Amino acid sequence: MEKKWSKNTWRDYRIRQQPFYEDSVNLKIVESKINKLPPLIFAGEVRSLKEKLKKVAMGEAFLLQGGDCAESFSDFSANNLRDSFKVILQMSAVLTYASSLPVVKVGRIAGQFAKPRSDDFEEKNGLKLPSYRGDIINDINFDINSRKPDPKRMLDAYSQSAYSLNLIRAFASGGFADLEKVHNWNLDFVKKSTKNKYLDLANSITDALKFMKACGFNKENVPEFKQVDFFTSHEALLLNYEEALTREDSMKGGWYDCSAHMLWIGERTRNLDEAHVEFMRGIKNPIGVKIGPSVDEDYLIKLLEILNPLNEMGKITLITRMGSENIYSKLPLLIQKIRKNKNNVIWSCDPMHANTYKSSTGFKTRSFDKILSEIEAFFKVHQQEGSFAGGIHLELTGLDVTECVGGSQKIKEEDLSDRYHTHCDPRLNASQGLDLAFKLSDFLKVKRG
Ligand code: PEP
Ligand code: CO
Repeated sequence: MEKKWSKNTWRDYRIRQQPFYEDSVNLKIVESKINKLPPLIFAGEVRSLKEKLKKVAMGEAFLLQGGDCAESFSDFSANNLRDSFKVILQMSAVLTYASSLPVVKVGRIAGQFAKPRSDDFEEKNGLKLPSYRGDIINDINFDINSRKPDPKRMLDAYSQSAYSLNLIRAFASGGFADLEKVHNWNLDFVKKSTKNKYLDLANSITDALKFMKACGFNKENVPEFKQVDFFTSHEALLLNYEEALTREDSMKGGWYDCSAHMLWIGERTRNLDEAHVEFMRGIKNPIGVKIGPSVDEDYLIKLLEILNPLNEMGKITLITRMGSENIYSKLPLLIQKIRKNKNNVIWSCDPMHANTYKSSTGFKTRSFDKILSEIEAFFKVHQQEGSFAGGIHLELTGLDVTECVGGSQKIKEEDLSDRYHTHCDPRLNASQGLDLAFKLSDFLKVKRG
């Protein structure tokens, strides 16, 4: 018999990576306040994302998911949000052309505030304090008060998500996402770069746009020329917050986590019989699952039975984050197992999280080349196995930060201190994001022939 689910049954299970709130009375007050606030997204939008993801699962669209590792309260501004949105649009234009497929755009945005950590404590100069767990939980400053989990932060995270969504929706349909404009930004980028291949590709897009215009397709008669669909996502880690935003759809029934369109379960919290899997199994949103190199194939099948018992297409995105070496030995077995068991999944590649290292200058960083080589391996393995490499999942920002080394700006370890602003993991900057999109176009072309 199927186990009963409700939005709070996760509370009966073992849970990892949660804060300890000393003030449980205040925690309850905040939860009930959020419970009464309007949903951030609407179930109909989630269904529309699911339809698009179904296409990805069938090999008829490509998923581009990206944004900050951790959004922060202090770095929030309209310009920063605009720039991150802009780089995703620019990358998407390149990938659409290269793959000849629609690109489903999902931001790690408007809710990506809670972070799992490898250690519960951080030690500096002999002082040991609780780790920073994201702005929705505590503050990054290294003092005892800042690091105390404060439930009120959930309300601030909700507000910032609402402001972000408001602006994103305006950008997406108010003229900012005009395809010609996006392409002109790409041309500006290409002009500054020395890569002839980028220029060739950009010129081909210019020609394609001219051709379509000549055929009578333009922004007056084709909505896709001036607006985009853009969806939000984050790791569903802080379940007190996720539960408070989980609502029953008044139109069609079913429970939706209305904090974002898509949610994912992290590598550290995806155990069967634990709280995060219990919570996620009951919601209708599309779900991502991060899969590291230690994953066991039989476990994966059990997890999919729990999260997607009806084997719905587009419901589950497996986001592999194996590392540029492990991926060759690990991914083929997983693909074979999933195929044998006939599970419908989207395969997406997170080339960031298993390629992190500490630079000689003391910064947590990632190398652009390693990131690219995990993506290349991901495409190669899928091609060998005859499966569809359906998406990429990136940590990136529209700002000109220096957090990852390499790319056409040739950022070196010595440069990292110039503009290292991340609240958690190192992000690709706008130029590195675009570099990646242009490089990726080679792999996508291979796939489409
Ligand atoms: C993340 O995406 O920021 C993250 C923590 O990933 P993972 O769960 O794969 O380590
Ligand atoms: Co991260």
